[in-house]
Amino acid sequence: MARIVAGVGSSHVPAIGAAIDNGKTEEPYWKRVFSGFEKSQEWMRETKPDVAIIVYNDHASAFSVDLIPTFALGCAAEFPPADEGWGPRPVPVVQGHPALASHIAQSVILDEFDLTIVNKMTVDHGMTVPMNLLFGKIDKNAHWPCPVVPLAVNVVMYPPPTGHRCFMLGRAIKKAVESYPDDLKVVIFGTGGLSHQISGPRAGLINSKWDKAFLDNLSKDPQKLVKIPHVDYMREAGAEGIEMVMWLIMRGALGDKVDEVYRFYTVPASNTAVGHIILENHRRGAKPAGKRKPAAVKHKHAAARAKVHRIRS
Ligand code: DHB
Ligand code: FE
Repeated sequence: MARIVAGVGSSHVPAIGAAIDNGKTEEPYWKRVFSGFEKSQEWMRETKPDVAIIVYNDHASAFSVDLIPTFALGCAAEFPPADEGWGPRPVPVVQGHPALASHIAQSVILDEFDLTIVNKMTVDHGMTVPMNLLFGKIDKNAHWPCPVVPLAVNVVMYPPPTGHRCFMLGRAIKKAVESYPDDLKVVIFGTGGLSHQISGPRAGLINSKWDKAFLDNLSKDPQKLVKIPHVDYMREAGAEGIEMVMWLIMRGALGDKVDEVYRFYTVPASNTAVGHIILENHRRGAKPAGKRKPAAVKHKHAAARAKVHRIRS
């Protein structure tokens, strides 16, 4: 049986991808962001998923106003990086997992979630930036460490799906994965956010208090989050803060009880609050993350604007 062992939340700011591609990760501005993901990359190397399901949004790269699927599941064998105006990012082509993806499509559609099935699509910063943050920089001629089932969510054109719908889709994905016959270890990503607004009079808006409460509730009380209406995301977290609903698909795909093993929050990167969390499914009697004990880690760059929480190490 396949199983989802953990959920990862991560922002997808495109300038993070540009910093990686242009060799700027050691500059102080960017070091503050990247150093918050060092422990996460360690965690990912230890966890070694067989497949990642990555919930992300397309930014008018593969889709456009001509076609706006609310939920689009990538069932192809591969997903090349999109050209977002500067040529495709120099990252490897993302390998798909058509067998698991079509199993998920069948299971969730028969569970009354009408997904769009996508057999050809490119993937933009919404997917490749979180992959770099968690898997590290990988030469474009090498391979990402595991295949990916992409799930693209419309958060670009009104109306996006509700938080409740997203959470329930996560539940259906959990059921789908658990009915897949092969023994696969799966990690699910929720990406985008946190608070940000990139145009209009409120451009540059960041609401750290809202973001922190969102992360707290994501761990402990996600039912509080599923009730939040779109207008509250817009008001509190900025127009693009609505990307945060995608994290609720990830959370819905985990069990009721999770262990928060890592959190990182820093502002800003470009216009955006960078948030990151790792939630392991709670397994009674099992030690999470490879026999590690909880320990407070003092982060090198921990400062008023960069807050790092505990990680098991
Ligand atoms: C920015 C953030 C995004 O999520 C995005 O898709 C584009 C730009 C930004 O902060 O610049
Ligand atoms: Fe975005």
